[in-house]
Amino acid sequence: MENFVFYNPVKILFGKGQIANIATEIPKDAKILMTYGGGSIKKNGVYDQVKSALGEHDVIEFGGIEPNPTYETLMKAVEIVRNSDINFLLAVGGGSVADGTKFIAAAANFDGEPWDILSKRAPISSALPIGVVLTLAATGSEMNINSVVTKAANKEKRHFASPLVYPRFSVLDPETTFSLPQRQVSNGIVDAFTHTMEQYLTYPVNAPLQDRMAEGILKTLIEEGPKTLANPQDYDARANFMWCATMALNGIIAVGVPQDWATHMIGHELTALHGLDHGQTLAVVLPSTLTVKRAQKSQKLLQYAERVWGITTGIEEERINTAINKTREFFESVGVHTKLSDYDVTLDTIPLVLERLENYGYTALGEHQDVNLQTVEQILQLCA
Ligand code: NZQ
Ligand code: ZN
Repeated sequence: MENFVFYNPVKILFGKGQIANIATEIPKDAKILMTYGGGSIKKNGVYDQVKSALGEHDVIEFGGIEPNPTYETLMKAVEIVRNSDINFLLAVGGGSVADGTKFIAAAANFDGEPWDILSKRAPISSALPIGVVLTLAATGSEMNINSVVTKAANKEKRHFASPLVYPRFSVLDPETTFSLPQRQVSNGIVDAFTHTMEQYLTYPVNAPLQDRMAEGILKTLIEEGPKTLANPQDYDARANFMWCATMALNGIIAVGVPQDWATHMIGHELTALHGLDHGQTLAVVLPSTLTVKRAQKSQKLLQYAERVWGITTGIEEERINTAINKTREFFESVGVHTKLSDYDVTLDTIPLVLERLENYGYTALGEHQDVNLQTVEQILQLCA
């Protein structure tokens, strides 16, 4: 196992009715900016629950944070924070609202052009405190340090990470996810599955606990994801899926092991260029990444084949093929298509993706830093 430092201070309030408890998590004299998305929280009762929980608090609202949140929109919130002496941010929504709020928290205190936090990895020295009421299980943003923001003007999708933007608390009430459209549930299953794979499907470093935790998340997603889709009101399935998504990207399974993330980096460009949902990009790219890197990943692919899919017979090459096919079939079975052509994207996109990755300096991706532009091209060729 590799050396590691682990720190995660996020307090989780899990289960039905937990939104009512947020008032005690936020200082009484806080001036809160409540951030949210396009309005789903007003239709499913989450907005009312939050407002009633914060009846005694001073709250200003900022709605309209879009999926794949934009810098342009978020900077409007930064202005409000600066002009209204806001000192606490409460994100109510999915990963986009959580991520966007992390950027607002960092940008409001930043001396300089806040886009540099994303584009130049400009270090931040402070951020406003954040709370999250999560309504979509997928990204893990509720319990991690990451934020992904897009500049609409030139479609740049960039990310930053800082322990300063760990939420102080996150409410995970599975009932808030009952109202999700099927497409978003499907995307969430694929996102949580792929997060786990990015940290698990690399090469062995004798970390059996991390491996088994990752395999546990994958197997639980395979069991509970379809239940959630079949019966959207199944509280237990929602709860199990929601906790899987959080555990998939809160840092725990990442400790002491190599990580890949090439699929995500390529996927972000497909969202930026063609508007595919984040989960859709992963369903397209992950099977191809596994195929192109099968030699370097062979030991873990065989372990994944056996422990996650029960594949124990056949020569090694066949077992690996079957495991990759099972992955693709699982994504399709939960309703996320796995080919670029399913989204009307042609291979003409390849030079555009390569140019962008080169501009960002993302030319040595993957657990061995050997996913260069040529490898990305091979991966995308297989996504047709
Ligand atoms: O905007 P509203 O009206 O709320 O509607 C949203 C949005 O249209 C809707 N929705 C959310 N909760 C709902 C609901 N509709 C009905 N009922 C509910 N309970 O769902 C749509 C998608 O929401 P969004 O927040 O965009 O989805 P998700 O949580 O999948 O977040 C995706 C974003 O997270 C980033 C992605 O790149 C993308 O920008 N990621 C963040 C990561 C992180 N912070 O660690 C890691 C991920 O790999 C990912 O990159
Ligand atoms: Zn993701």
